[in-house]
Amino acid sequence: MENPALFCAHTGANANTPQIRPAGSQDSEAIARMAHAADMGELSEAGVTYVAEVDGAVVGFIRLVEEDGSWFVNPVVIESARRGRGIGRALMRFARQRKGPLRFVARGYAVPFYQKLGCTTIPWSEIPASLASDCDACDMLATCFPQPMILK
Ligand SMILES: CC(C)(COP(=O)(O)OP(=O)(O)OC[C@H]1O[C@@H](n2cnc3c(N)ncnc32)[C@H](O)[C@@H]1OP(=O)(O)O)[C@@H](O)C(=O)NCCC(=O)NCCS
Repeated sequence: MENPALFCAHTGANANTPQIRPAGSQDSEAIARMAHAADMGELSEAGVTYVAEVDGAVVGFIRLVEEDGSWFVNPVVIESARRGRGIGRALMRFARQRKGPLRFVARGYAVPFYQKLGCTTIPWSEIPASLASDCDACDMLATCFPQPMILK
């Protein structure tokens, strides 16, 4: 039985379910802080970004970039204190529902997360040079073991 104090009869969501919405200019600082904390550097303004909110606080984001008619995740980041609660999964599912199959380059340590979502490995040839070159220029390349993947 759901805890009635946490359950919303209207939406079927509970108090821990993230609310996902398009990012606005008011979210820029939170997005930049989370990206920096995850060693993602400075993100460009390109693409479409959605944020996940819990209790009114932005706790994660996903940025999607379109190239040649396909959508790429670049990147998905959850606030470190909020990881392991299904927020990354919720953002990936939300993006998949709106944009169709999602391709991306997974950092090696994050591959098990993507595999839990049903993502599979694809050849590097399915990743545009503009995204693959981020890896080539990355200080962590030797220890990261990046893998190109897809959420079909
Ligand atoms: C990777 C990341 C986005 C995952 O988000 P999250 O909200 O913590 O993930 P979820 O809670 O939705 O996890 C979904 C499932 O994956 C599992 N999982 C998550 N991260 C995992 C990891 N590193 N290794 C193994 N399993 C993992 C969870 O246990 C959960 O499993 P379950 O279905 O059995 O419950 C988050 O850890 C993050 O922001 N990391 C730093 C930035 C980053 O590396 N982004 C990805 C770049 S490729």
